Amino acid sequence: MREKLVAMLDQGRKALEAADSADALQEVRVRFLGKKGELTAIMKGMGKLSPEDRPVIGALANQVKSELEDLFVERSRHVGELEMQKRLAEERVDVTLPGRRLASGSKHPVTLIIEEITDIFSALGFAVAEGPEIEQDFYNFEALNMPKDHPARDMQDTFYINDDVVLRTHTSPVQIRTMLKHAPPVRVIAPGTVYRRDSDLTHTPMFHQVEGFLVDRNITFGDLKGILTTFLSQVFGKGLEVRFRPSFFPFTEPSAEVDIQCVMCKGQGCRVCKNSGWLEILGSGMIDPEVFKAVGYDSDVYSGFAFGMGVERIAMLKYGVHDLRLFFENDVRFLRQF
Ligand code: DAH
Repeated sequence: MREKLVAMLDQGRKALEAADSADALQEVRVRFLGKKGELTAIMKGMGKLSPEDRPVIGALANQVKSELEDLFVERSRHVGELEMQKRLAEERVDVTLPGRRLASGSKHPVTLIIEEITDIFSALGFAVAEGPEIEQDFYNFEALNMPKDHPARDMQDTFYINDDVVLRTHTSPVQIRTMLKHAPPVRVIAPGTVYRRDSDLTHTPMFHQVEGFLVDRNITFGDLKGILTTFLSQVFGKGLEVRFRPSFFPFTEPSAEVDIQCVMCKGQGCRVCKNSGWLEILGSGMIDPEVFKAVGYDSDVYSGFAFGMGVERIAMLKYGVHDLRLFFENDVRFLRQF
C-alpha cells in the first residue's frame, strides 16, 4: 500500500501541474481526492492491514492527502491568475480611442424658416395661431369674399373632400377663425401646411405658408409697408430693396404684391428672377370691408392689413436651393446642410 500511495502522490502531482484551467483542476481533484477517488479506493484496503502497519499507512495517507490538497490550492491560485490575465488580454478596451458619434437629426429647412419668421413677428408683438388643414368652404373661401361662383376660386386648384369641405388652399382661413373668436385689436401670424392640385418644378401639392394680419383703429397702408419692410430686411438682410406692386386679392382692398430685389443677382437680372431683377415674395393688402362684415367687425371703426407668403419659396431663395422637390425627398445628405 505504501508504494501505491507514493505512486498516487506522484501521479496526482503531475496531473495538477498539467491542469491549466479551473475545470481541469477540479477534475483532477475529484479523481484523486473525491469520495469515489483513488485515495478513497486505496484507503478501503486499510482493514486488511496488520494492527502495526495500520497507523503508519494511515499517517502516510493523511500526509499524501494534505500534500495534494495544498498543491491543489497553490495550483488553483496560479491557474486563476493565468485565466485572469487571459481575460484581460482578450477583453482589452482601448479607452483612448475616439468615441462613435451618435447620429442626430436636424431641423428641416422649412421648419427653420417658419421659426425664423415666427421669431421676427413675435418680436413685433404678433401672436401665433393655427387652424385645421381640412377646412370648411366657408372659412377657406366664402368668408374671404370668394362666393361659390367667384372666378378667383379657379386660381387655387382645390382638393375637394365634398361640396363643403376642402383641404385648405391657403392659411387665410385662420384670419376668419381668429377674428370670429377675438374682438380687435388682433395681431396674429398663422404658419401652416396648405394644399393645391398643382405639381411641377416649382409647385408641389403640399406646401407651407405663413399668414399674418393686424387689425386695430387707424391702421393704414403705411403700417403695412412698415411692418413688411422691417420683416423682409430681417430675413434677407438690410440694404435689399423692396417694392410694392398693385395687385388683386378678393379679401384685400387695395392689394399689393411685395417684391424684393433679386437675392441671386442683386437686381442685375438672372435666371432666378427671369431677368427682371425682382422676386415676388408676398401677397398683401388692407383687409376688405366684406371680410370684416363676415366676422362682425365694424369697418367704420377698425381697419387692418393682411399678408401671406410661401415658406418653401423663401427657403429656396435664402438657402440658394434651385429645386423645390429637394425639400420633400428627405435625403439626409441634403437636410444635414441646414
Ligand atoms: N392667400 C393668398 C394665397 O394663398 C396669399 C395672400 C395674399 C394672403 C394677400 C393675404 C393677403 O393675407 O392679404 O395666395
